Amino acid sequence: MSLKLDMLRCGQYVARRIAVPRRNWQSHHSQFRMLGTAAEKPQVSSSSGYLQFSFHNTVSTGNLKRTSLPNFWLRDNCRCSSCVHQDTAQRNFNTFEIPEDIRPSQVEANDKGVKVQWSGDAHESFYPWDFLDFYLRSDKRAPERVEAEYFGARGPQTSQGWPPSVKYGDFSANETETVGRLTDHIRRNGFAFITEVPIESAEPTEKLLEKIAFIRQTHYGGFYDFIPDLALADTAYTNIALGAHTDTTYFTDPAGLQAFHLLSHTDTTSKKDPGESLGGQSLLVDGFHAASILRKEDPKAFEVLSRVKLPWHASGNKGITISPDKPYPVLEVDESTGELHRVRWNNDDRGVVPFSNEHSPEEWYKAARKWNEILRRESIEYWFQLKPGNLLVFDNWRVLHGRSAFTGVRRICGGYINRDDFISRWRNTNYPRDEILKRIIG
Ligand SMILES: [Fe+2]
Repeated sequence: MSLKLDMLRCGQYVARRIAVPRRNWQSHHSQFRMLGTAAEKPQVSSSSGYLQFSFHNTVSTGNLKRTSLPNFWLRDNCRCSSCVHQDTAQRNFNTFEIPEDIRPSQVEANDKGVKVQWSGDAHESFYPWDFLDFYLRSDKRAPERVEAEYFGARGPQTSQGWPPSVKYGDFSANETETVGRLTDHIRRNGFAFITEVPIESAEPTEKLLEKIAFIRQTHYGGFYDFIPDLALADTAYTNIALGAHTDTTYFTDPAGLQAFHLLSHTDTTSKKDPGESLGGQSLLVDGFHAASILRKEDPKAFEVLSRVKLPWHASGNKGITISPDKPYPVLEVDESTGELHRVRWNNDDRGVVPFSNEHSPEEWYKAARKWNEILRRESIEYWFQLKPGNLLVFDNWRVLHGRSAFTGVRRICGGYINRDDFISRWRNTNYPRDEILKRIIG
């Protein structure tokens, strides 16, 4: 390991995105407060067990959470080329072989950061100012917060370009940029269409989904291409109307994305005029939008739906009984931010409402009735007709889907993609790798 190399690696950080610059990684940047001028940079010294940072400028001390960082913690977070495996990005040393009382033998600050030579093995570490500054002002990195643009019957209140879509041909022109745009739409708007997808077979749709990530296997299979068939023992495979719901509520980790492509819809027995609707309109409901309305109109109902943990199940297929690792509430709230994290709603797959000391079943039913009423409001239901060539991909942790009844035969293909794989692809097609690693590792 050479110090020069380290400084080059760490100092080259540039906060820009690789694909098409669209929005900032907001919380990421707002949590950063770079030490811009020499006057703002602290003096660094070693004190018992810690590296001490002394600021002379009151502006810089504004939102400090601490003025020192533990020696052992710093040594454990060395990012030099020998401490981080260059091929796997994994920690390349045994934390517990580092002496508990390790201390710097030499400390040297410069414009880019702080170089520390450690006692014992004389290992040299370099910590860029942005890293040090972040942890002097914050406790931990948090998952990316993306501002969701809620939508209702007529789309979002602010956005242009409704509904969000990308063209099939754009993937061959610039795959990374197009996947970046597609996944960013889904992240912010909850869904997106891919238009002009070939319809002669299901294969182009399958290949398209695989550009986001591999297709998830479930007890129904992987990529699907089906016409109504009750042998599969789920109402999704019938032609009846389906109310707004999320899929796979019975998995510990429900499907992250879901995709539908209507390849054809025909009815040879229909007496209707050609061009007249055969039904089967699609419905999307922004669950985050609905939950924000619930929280405003009936905070108690929001609380009940976020606190009462329910059993969910898939038991229709012989030999298969799937249920999550533990009961989950309808509205999962992030404990650290208080923000809604995931919606899990399919009343047909719900088990028995439990008796709990906190909230009675009566309270849950009352809250669920209010939730159900909001989900069915005309102002919130976004209805549209799926057309051959238009592939719909949506965030199954946020957006509920349904459809009206239809006649005839519909051929639909699509699949599920895991949430983690979707987010990973979104990150890697929208941000430079060094920024991602900083966000993910700390
Ligand atoms: Fe469904």
